[in-house]
Amino acid sequence: MAVIETDRLTKDYSGKIRALQGVSIAVQPGEIYGLLGVNGAGKTTLVKILLGIVKPTQGSGHLLGQPVGSLAIRYRIGYLPEDHRFPDYHTGFSLLDFYGALLGMPRRKRRQRIGEWLDRVGLGPRMHGKIRTYSKGMKQRLGIAQALLHDPELVFLDEPTDGVDPVGRREIREILLDLKRRGKTIFLNSHLLSEVEKICDRVGILNRGHLVLQGDVNDLTRVADCFELRLARGQVFPAETLKSRGFRVKPLGDETWEVFLSDGQRIDEVVDSIRAAGLSLRYLAEKRLSLEEILMNLMDMQERQP
Ligand SMILES: Nc1ncnc2c1ncn2[C@@H]1O[C@H](COP(=O)(O)OP(=O)(O)O)[C@@H](O)[C@H]1O
Ligand SMILES: [Mg+2]
Repeated sequence: MAVIETDRLTKDYSGKIRALQGVSIAVQPGEIYGLLGVNGAGKTTLVKILLGIVKPTQGSGHLLGQPVGSLAIRYRIGYLPEDHRFPDYHTGFSLLDFYGALLGMPRRKRRQRIGEWLDRVGLGPRMHGKIRTYSKGMKQRLGIAQALLHDPELVFLDEPTDGVDPVGRREIREILLDLKRRGKTIFLNSHLLSEVEKICDRVGILNRGHLVLQGDVNDLTRVADCFELRLARGQVFPAETLKSRGFRVKPLGDETWEVFLSDGQRIDEVVDSIRAAGLSLRYLAEKRLSLEEILMNLMDMQERQP
């Protein structure tokens, strides 16, 4: 059964601004699902509806088998809001202690978990410093610790790597992958497509409130029947030979070539001819588009629609 399910969600703010239009998504247990789109696409609105913070104008949603907004599952969910502003007179430690108490965690468990999580997100040495002395990246890491403190089975992270430097981003990715290994389900919003590409199993792409694409990242990014190849340095790619055997080839610059297969052709034949010519293959991969390229193509297509 899906952990998150929505059925044709539509949201109009103040009766005028349509932030979502008929959005249906499903997220399976244990997956990392990325909701992507440029600023203003409707990502935060969707998460807020799922968490019961915003009411949909039309449509419905379920989390962990309960209708959205249900209090019964609140403790099984973690949430990192976008643009959170924690009271900055707290220290990292005292803030988490406060949240842990709100969640009803016993003091001893709280103390132990808080230390563990703050170490985990790299804030251990600064945990007794005031939040007002933290950088944007440190506040973001604190927010992630806050979302995960009570060991929720489903976690919503709205722009988790916003304002975080590349090293911090990598650390956050590792934390998320570790949660996935432990069977948690993660829903993340991001406008940083290359980040998401590295960790998400499935993505949905929102454009102006419409879900324009949803699917497995591997399937979406693979370009059918196109391969990229590169030979050892200085060797000349046997373009003419391959053309004479009926393959379509195209140079990409930096000595990499694209080979397109048509009906019945196999990439193995290309490899065989390269080997037969005494040449050495150094790189061979199915061609992939980045999610960014896919999003840009979709947005172009939508612009052109009347
Ligand atoms: N509280 C609100 N009142 C009115 N309009 C809003 C409100 N929140 C968001 N919007 C509008 O809804 C659209 C989607 O916003 P949002 O869900 O924040 O997108 P994203 O998270 O993808 O950047 C935008 O046009 C935004 O200006
Ligand atoms: Mg947002």
